[in-house]
Amino acid sequence: MATQVIVVGSYNQDHVWQVDRFPQPGETRRGSGFRTGPGGKGFNQAVACARQDVATVFIGARGKDALGEGAAALAEREGLMGCWQVREDVPTGTAAILVEASGQNQIIVDLAANERLDPDFLRAQSTRFADARVLLVQLENNLDATRAALELGGEHNLTCVLNPAPVHPDLDAGLLGLVDVLTPNESEFAQLCARFLDAEVATDDVASLDDERLHALCRRLCNGSVVVTLGRHGSFVSHGAARRGDEADCYRVAAETVTPVDTTGAGDAFCGALAAGLASTDSARFADAVRQAGRVAAMSTERAGAAVAMPRRDEVAARFR
Ligand code: RIB
Ligand code: NA
Repeated sequence: MATQVIVVGSYNQDHVWQVDRFPQPGETRRGSGFRTGPGGKGFNQAVACARQDVATVFIGARGKDALGEGAAALAEREGLMGCWQVREDVPTGTAAILVEASGQNQIIVDLAANERLDPDFLRAQSTRFADARVLLVQLENNLDATRAALELGGEHNLTCVLNPAPVHPDLDAGLLGLVDVLTPNESEFAQLCARFLDAEVATDDVASLDDERLHALCRRLCNGSVVVTLGRHGSFVSHGAARRGDEADCYRVAAETVTPVDTTGAGDAFCGALAAGLASTDSARFADAVRQAGRVAAMSTERAGAAVAMPRRDEVAARFR
């Protein structure tokens, strides 16, 4: 099967505890239900995409250690075409995650090997870009690698999707210029507006801004399409000159109503499924890909964990008829 989506991104081994509420600074609280499993925004997105029955390649860096070997084995079991740069100088990425009873989370990441992904390693994979349709990247690698990936994507005419998560301290406007589709959540959108537009928007207010204002902010952020994910408020889509099969310049897509148990990786579920939708020849409208991505994301919050919580295409079809 020819590759449809290339995900260049991070792998982290997640370490997760359940808490009744997050600790205050200086406070010790009891957690429970410790589990460890695969995570990292890039890997989560790749798994979400592959589980939509789309041929997916994951390119990333890992340490030469047990966690990294486990990651590579898991990628294979998931049917991901994994392509790992094995670093001997740094360990595999790790994350500590607290999940509150409400399903909300707090995360600390030690990106380690992810930050050492070598741009030359990516360039050496350029033949893989030749027959793909969509490139999906996030911000858990070093920016030189992310930029190299986007440049390769551009050279091979892929639809380049950037999930600006988490917003990198050195992110520059030039990188946003390489992007066809930008997918910030509310907090990332607020940070990008502050950084690049000098516009103060509170994270909690993003969902309630009127469409005209949101569209105007999106248009100033990047020439490509912008999909702002708004949690239970769904998402907002803003197109530039390329409307990608949609009739409207901007519109909202409602979210499915679910009771979340763990929202970790919900954004990743959305981005992976969106990339899958954009790569499928049978999805003509961008809006359809966004709606399906919202369903995949909603369903991922009904299950514990990040990568392991990604629903399969047939499960999503059965859940939302
Ligand atoms: O988006 C969720 C992910 O963020 C977790 O899996 C964790 O590894 C961090 O990268
Ligand atoms: Na989940």
